[in-house]
Amino acid sequence: MIEHAKRLDKIPPYLFGEIARAKAKAIAEGKDLIDLGIGDPDQPTPAPIIDALYKAAKNPETHRYDETPAGDTLFLEAVSRWFEKRFGVPIDPKTEALLMIGSKEGLAHLAWAFIDPGDISIVPDPAYTVYKVNTLMAGGEAVTVPLKAERGFLPDLNAIPSDIARKAKLLWLNYPNNPTGAVANLDFYRDAVVFCKENNLLLINDAAYSEVSFDGFRPPSALQVEGAKDVVIELHSFSKMFNMTGWRIAMAFGNADALATLNKMKSNVDSKQFPAISRAAAYAIEHVDNSTTLNLIRKRRDILVDGLNALGWNIPKPKATFYVWAPVPKGETSMNFAKRLLEETGVLVIPGVGYGDCGEGYIRMSLTVMGDKNGERVAEVVERIKSMGIK
Ligand SMILES: Cc1ncc(COP(=O)(O)O)c(C=O)c1O
Repeated sequence: MIEHAKRLDKIPPYLFGEIARAKAKAIAEGKDLIDLGIGDPDQPTPAPIIDALYKAAKNPETHRYDETPAGDTLFLEAVSRWFEKRFGVPIDPKTEALLMIGSKEGLAHLAWAFIDPGDISIVPDPAYTVYKVNTLMAGGEAVTVPLKAERGFLPDLNAIPSDIARKAKLLWLNYPNNPTGAVANLDFYRDAVVFCKENNLLLINDAAYSEVSFDGFRPPSALQVEGAKDVVIELHSFSKMFNMTGWRIAMAFGNADALATLNKMKSNVDSKQFPAISRAAAYAIEHVDNSTTLNLIRKRRDILVDGLNALGWNIPKPKATFYVWAPVPKGETSMNFAKRLLEETGVLVIPGVGYGDCGEGYIRMSLTVMGDKNGERVAEVVERIKSMGIK
């Protein structure tokens, strides 16, 4: 057997083995499982987007490689117009926008494009694991900054030792945030841009959830900060915006040099996306709204958070994302609590420790519940937890 590359050994151990086993057992026993695990929209992609895909797929032009420099021109022009309309920041579709095969792909390749062995990435903890894992696989070091409840799950950038800040190349941020559901305001981004300019860092803002927000709240963009294009690139995705996780289509905006570097990496790895998909996405971003899904998610959020808080929990309502970040009962680890919840009630949640050490003490409950038409499955979660007597 040929031995694998050593870099694969840098991938941290899979923490969810126990949960996966408990899930398989619950299913084998025929338990009525309610899965609040993965953050993958349960609702279908809106029909007009599927129609646009069908129409585009019938055009033989879309059957060939996308040979444009940075992605289908129709797509880049549409998403750039959208960005300016949404955030008030003009984008040059030729140099300041790039098509990605989902933001996960772009995030991973950013690490590979910028991190050499020994280089430093500053990564939040807890966080979506892709930033850290790819930094490590590229031979770099991931220095974590804690996200704590008392700071609204925003990192204290001034607490980063100055020698680390100066040596680091990348600062990864993600707002609206997975897994905490926290949001950032423009003042925070202003400070982050200053910090990155002072320390010569590229700020990568993962804004995959920018369009999943509630109660009239509209998450800002880091690129709205004056001068942000000097140091920021921001990633947006169709996955959560339009229930299109399987379609694999996303885009990055911002600093032209950084995007050219990412494009150089990508053009040696992939050949962009099926142009019918990028054309359907271009249609979606200017013609389709996803308020029906968002209303359902908001309804589930209210039933779950209000219901658990009425039982004595203390959970803030997320203004954005699909995620409810709930503290576990005193004296329990997140892993034990998640396991107990699954075994005793058939409710599957993700232990916070899976997102980093600072996620200990929390569970993440995703509001993308399969089979929940009108909030009834989420109401059932509250009933089951009530019957367990957990506070
Ligand atoms: C914070 C965050 N960024 C990026 C992604 C990846 O999204 P995409 O489907 O665009 O690759 C996810 C997926 O769950 C996520 O949670």
